[in-house]
Amino acid sequence: MNLFDVYPINDITIVKAKGSYVWDEKGDQYLDLYGGHAVISIGHTHPHWVSRIEEQLEKIAFYSNSIRIPLQQQLAEKLGKVSGKPDYQLFLCNSGAEANENALKLASFHNGRKKVVAFSKSFHGRTSLAVAVTDNKNYVAPVNETENVIFLPFNDTAALTTCFKQQGGEISAVIVEGIQGVGGINVADESFLKKIRSLCDDYGAVYIADSVQCGYGRTGKFFSHDFAGVSADIYTMAKGMGNGFPVAGIIVAPHIKPKHFQLGTTFGGNHLACAAALAVLETIEEEKLMGNAVMIGKYLKDELNNIPEIENVRGRGLMIGFDVPEELKDLKKNLLWNQQIFTGEAKPNVIRLLPSLALKKKDAEQFIDALKEEIEKLVPTSTPANQE
Ligand SMILES: Cc1ncc(COP(=O)(O)O)c(C=O)c1O
Repeated sequence: MNLFDVYPINDITIVKAKGSYVWDEKGDQYLDLYGGHAVISIGHTHPHWVSRIEEQLEKIAFYSNSIRIPLQQQLAEKLGKVSGKPDYQLFLCNSGAEANENALKLASFHNGRKKVVAFSKSFHGRTSLAVAVTDNKNYVAPVNETENVIFLPFNDTAALTTCFKQQGGEISAVIVEGIQGVGGINVADESFLKKIRSLCDDYGAVYIADSVQCGYGRTGKFFSHDFAGVSADIYTMAKGMGNGFPVAGIIVAPHIKPKHFQLGTTFGGNHLACAAALAVLETIEEEKLMGNAVMIGKYLKDELNNIPEIENVRGRGLMIGFDVPEELKDLKKNLLWNQQIFTGEAKPNVIRLLPSLALKKKDAEQFIDALKEEIEKLVPTSTPANQE
């Protein structure tokens, strides 16, 4: 049997990983500023995470949600503390798309409405509702098409206000990333998020903060939406939550009440997933990783802003993007093959940095030096010695 070929891949086989580094089968070392798509939050194979999972594996790995799983309550308490939302309620699932799917469904159960507002360049996942609120026609199959989704321009407060004035009574939810990831690292304006909050309050809609990529401390605050100083009704999370162990969840504001059977999952919240997620939160707290994300993120942004050949450096903490002009279009590829550095991208011309929150200053320096070297090779600024 062959694999169903849906991924364009780099021809590299990674066999070992530690902290911000990975190694291929030849023993070559790579610096990982991509984190397997923003997943590696506390560092590859972090010893606390490994031992937490190993210890749990020896006891019990899985049982369904038909019994008490005290680890779930421990995780809820820890998450409430670290995120600063102790009065929210946790529902556990397995992936980002599933988290958004559940959030949108819960909003609709809550207010009995059908319409959802989403934004240009949004990405919320591949399952039916999650992909329906994703602004990329290539991912939407005919069966996912629905008239219930209204797409508005991102950060356009006036368009949002007009939409609510016209059909606010029908709108179930507004779903928005605090920083659009796949869309190219576009930061939601604080005034825009405040407007979403106030319109949802005025019209009885649910504000869903997709924090799958921009959450879990990556920006220096637990949820990047928190920069606006208002709370969402539901936050969705995945990626960094398990540091590579598949675990996801939504946290739900206290005014939204649970009903038996409205949501459910077989695997979500299993013992092993909870152990992995607890290890991540314990490490974020213990190693003050949100502070590190701010510090190293600032260093990277300052340095990137001083490189004249790249444009529009943006983002928060360790979620950073910049535009690459046409003459540097091979930069990402060259960083990988010449410098052994993984970075992320967003089409058509954005390089995305999504490293572990434990990225060290020396690693950030290595990246900046490598970046300058590769830019110089592509667009030399000084006259080569033999032409002087
Ligand atoms: C903002 C956002 N939401 C949802 C998802 C979907 O997550 P998953 O791939 O775990 O389903 C992603 C994945 O990239 C994402 O970036």
